Parts: sequence; C-alpha cells; structure tokens
Amino acid sequence: MYKKPIIVFEGIEGSGKSYHISKVSKFLEKKKIGYIKIREPGGSLNSEKIRNLILNKKSNFNKKTDLLLYLAARSENVNAITKFYGKKVILIDRFTDSTIAYQHYGMGINLKIINIINQFLLKNIKITFTFLHVVSKKNLFLRLKKRKSLNRYDKFNANFYNQVQNGFLKLAKSSKKSYKIIDSNLDIKKNEDLILNQLKKLIK
Ligand code: TMP
Repeated sequence: MYKKPIIVFEGIEGSGKSYHISKVSKFLEKKKIGYIKIREPGGSLNSEKIRNLILNKKSNFNKKTDLLLYLAARSENVNAITKFYGKKVILIDRFTDSTIAYQHYGMGINLKIINIINQFLLKNIKITFTFLHVVSKKNLFLRLKKRKSLNRYDKFNANFYNQVQNGFLKLAKSSKKSYKIIDSNLDIKKNEDLILNQLKKLIK
C-alpha cells in the first residue's frame, strides 16, 4: 500500500524553511490532501511547553540539559507522528538532523548518544525526504535583524551557525536518506517551484 511521506524542512535560522513549509501546507490544502504539520521543538501541547522552556531568553540550561529537552519535546511528538504515519502527509519543521547539527556539530555533544536516543524515540519511523535550506552569513544576520523578537538560539555568533550549517551539509552528503539542498540566497519563487515540483513527485 502506498504510504504518505514524512517530509522534513531543515536549516539554520533565517534559511527560509518556515516560509516554504507554509507554502507547501497551502498547496496540500488546495489539493485537499490530508496532512499534519509539526514544528520542533513544539508542535503539540506538551512539546510547546518544553519549547517555551528551552528557547526562553531567561533560561540558561547547560548544553546537555538542552539536548535532553529537545529530545523530550520530540518524544511528545512521536505519538502524533505514529498516529498519522503513512496515512497523512507529515510535514516537520526541524527534526532529528537539527539535533545532530546543533547539539553535535555546534555544541560538541557525543553523536552516538544523540543517535541512540533518536533511535529509541523513533523506532521504525523513517523520514522520506528532507529539504535542507542553506543561507549565507550576510543574509542570515540580515534576516535575524528583521525579527521582532529573538529567542535564546537566535543569538549565537557567525562561527557557531557556520559549524551547524556545515554539519547539516555533511549529513545531507553522507546519508543514504533523500535530500534536496535549497539555496535560500537565490530567488524565493524559483525555490518555491523547486520544492513544489519535488513535493508532487513525493505525493503522487
Ligand atoms: P525555530 O523553531 O525558530 O527554528 O527555533 C528552534 C531552535 O531550536 C533553533 O535554533 C534550532 C534549535 N534546535 C536544536 O538546537 N536542536 C533540536 O533538536 C531542534 C529540533 C531545534
């Protein structure tokens, strides 16, 4: 039986993933194709509570606590993902690659620990396709400057975001999973077409 895909949107701050995920949602709505949309951290009632805790500017957890909170937030989403797995298109704004890119490549946490807990949480859930959005340093900081309010993870230096973005790219290149890299420094409309064309292949 044909299974509906899990499509993940990844990338650092200001890379345009939230814009594109909302365009994809609108397309699916127009076509009356059943889907759910989740963001991480967040996406469900309990996970949103954890999101507020992690990203609150007043929080100052250490990096291991952050890791465990991101994973706790994911654990709260696994129920919804399992419920609709294969039955509806599942769009996820950040998922397991974000943990590897930020907590391992950005913050130096042991990769094996992250992989083991992700595996423990996801069991047989498999991502079908990932759009990885990349952005230049110049556009990243221009876009962050335009944000009305910045969270705790919007305030790292250029070197940190560079390490995280390179981490995402390493994952895309070394993984057996399917990725498309979206250069968000290029024309937004062309990128939208690129993503929608890929989406059509994934849902047909
Ligand atoms: P965003 O929802 O505005 O993209 O912000 C979420 C922040 O959380 C972003 O800076 C990336 C970070 N993050 C991690 O560090 N690890 C994770 O596992 C996830 C899902 C997000």
